[in-house]
Amino acid sequence: MRYPEEVIEEVRARNDIVDVVSGYVALQRKGNNYFGLCPFHHEKSPSFSVAPGKQIYYCFGCGAGGNVITFIMEYENYTFGEALQLLADRAGITLPKRAYSQEEKAQDDLKKTLLEINKLAANYFYHQLKQPQGKIGYDYLRGRQLSDETIRHFGLGYSNKVSNDLYRFLKSKGYGDDVLKETGLVTIEEKGSRDKFWNRVMFPIMDINNRVIGFGGRVMGEGKPKYLNSPETRLFDKSRNLFGLNFARTSREKYILICEGYMDVIALHQAGFSNSVASLGTAFTSQQALLLKRYTEQVILTYDSDGAGVKAALRAIPILKEVDMSVKVLDMTPHKDPDEFIKNLGADRFRERIEKAKNSFLFEIDVLRRQYDMEDPEQKTKFYQETAKKLLTFRESLERDNYIQAVSREQAIPYEELKRLVNRMASHFVPGSKAAGGPGLSGGEESREGDEAGTARSGVSGSTGPFGVSGGTGPLGIPGSLDRSGAPGSLGRGQAADGADRPAAGRRQKPLRGREEGVRQAQRLLLTWLIEDPGLFSKIKGIVSADDLVDPLYHQVAERVFDSLEKGSVSPAAILDGFINDEGQYREVAALFHASVKDSLSNEEQRKAFSEIVRKVKENSLEQARKQATDLGSLQKIVKEQAALRSLHISLD
Ligand code: CTP
Ligand code: MN
Repeated sequence: MRYPEEVIEEVRARNDIVDVVSGYVALQRKGNNYFGLCPFHHEKSPSFSVAPGKQIYYCFGCGAGGNVITFIMEYENYTFGEALQLLADRAGITLPKRAYSQEEKAQDDLKKTLLEINKLAANYFYHQLKQPQGKIGYDYLRGRQLSDETIRHFGLGYSNKVSNDLYRFLKSKGYGDDVLKETGLVTIEEKGSRDKFWNRVMFPIMDINNRVIGFGGRVMGEGKPKYLNSPETRLFDKSRNLFGLNFARTSREKYILICEGYMDVIALHQAGFSNSVASLGTAFTSQQALLLKRYTEQVILTYDSDGAGVKAALRAIPILKEVDMSVKVLDMTPHKDPDEFIKNLGADRFRERIEKAKNSFLFEIDVLRRQYDMEDPEQKTKFYQETAKKLLTFRESLERDNYIQAVSREQAIPYEELKRLVNRMASHFVPGSKAAGGPGLSGGEESREGDEAGTARSGVSGSTGPFGVSGGTGPLGIPGSLDRSGAPGSLGRGQAADGADRPAAGRRQKPLRGREEGVRQAQRLLLTWLIEDPGLFSKIKGIVSADDLVDPLYHQVAERVFDSLEKGSVSPAAILDGFINDEGQYREVAALFHASVKDSLSNEEQRKAFSEIVRKVKENSLEQARKQATDLGSLQKIVKEQAALRSLHISLD
């Protein structure tokens, strides 16, 4: 750990979680806890809850959970160190210098340095654009109808026609080859190092916190490759970032436009559509879908109108549906992409197209139809059958019927006929368990508020040029990557306190083998219970110890919990700090700390359940010990304990 525990403890203790979270989320008190809309996934009714007593938060919807530090880490995409710094500043605490492990410090320093270098390089490219030698780049961008303001807003630049001037510039700033080779900006070679980008207009790629993490460079005019992108580096993960999202996330529109190219995003922002983003020269990924989901529930695909664009849209749709997005597809014809469309027809016409954007399912059906010759009865029949098959993926009958109606209208297929065909297919075609590509019921909603054409709002401000914002890195990535198979905190959400294995309805879970999960759950519940009611510790002292919780994670938690209870007081938020290096772990621990056993059980049930849980935990640990026993003496002792356990009775009163 980088800082002494007392320091972390102090920062945490002086930042009340309700105060801090209230700065980001509107919270309402309900009983002992506060509730609000989860900032880590989109939802309409609040399932995000903050427990002031325990100083932790947990979302029953997406499983995000943790203490005040992890909240800042996840929300701001900060490292632990950065989050701690923010909270220390907030509370007026001065953090002591250093106390990192060597390795951590090296990693942290490297990332910081890479960010520093990227920022320098971005400023350098931007500066070149204004120099005589950069005029060619400037003219190119102006020729593409970008205003000075847009060029500044996006920090566009120019890489010189000299093979290593950036390299020399960075060297002059004191950076060594070993660091520079990690930037992806230069190729270090014995006989002389070269810049990666050469005579190109430069597009800095920023993360959601406006930090430059990579670059795209375009040739001016013809030439191959048209775009050159930074390679993946310690900072630059193409599958987890989106060009323009740093601006789009603060747009007030309810939906986000996804397009293919940097130029499209820039042209759209300039035309007032600051809610547009693009992937980074690679296909749209599920991590990007989850990232978007943090900011919106509705997207409109504004991909190129050519075959490649249609294909890309068909690939992106299921990825977006998978995270429950409402997806529409915009018709760009007769133009190729948003940039050209706007240049030719203007922003108003583009806005009309947005309003007319098509539900992604209906778009898929359109594409499907184009594969058949509708003049040929055989092919036409085949198209109807394929359409019916796709309609079967809606398993909710009302929703399916809505789509049958829409398709019959759009494709001029008689409604009754189509419905009959779908029903007939349903009887001998069983679709997969997943409604692949099936849009949600909200799929047909109108998704925009008419009068917000307004100006693109600047996310980068101030007088320091476009790269005013500095900082470290964001390693936590996006929520949703957690392993839900062991997600605790599910009492009252479909799981009983008796240890029975009843997964919550509708969740995809990889079920552990029954008994194993039962025992695991008992350990988890015991911890939940002790956190909720530390007084119970006296009832089980001498019967159960931390060693009886054998699940590796729960064992670690138990050691800390039992140790604190022994000392007289337990702080769930402090215990969480011990798991901060593993997102999956701290989420799981936060969940089990956050859960409540009491709320969901009557007193009588509580009595029975507690006794059962203790027994189960102990039984399991004795059984394991028995299997491992090597001498008769210890075996006899265990067997005796097992017998005693059978007559054990724990009273809660
Ligand atoms: N792209 C890339 N490498 C290439 C070609 C394209 O990384 N050799 C990526 C870029 O992110 C680019 C996007 O794919 O922005 C879309 O490519 P394309 O449609 O060809 O370019 P446009 O964005 O339309 O750019 P322009 O208008 O300047 O041609
Ligand atoms: Mn283009």
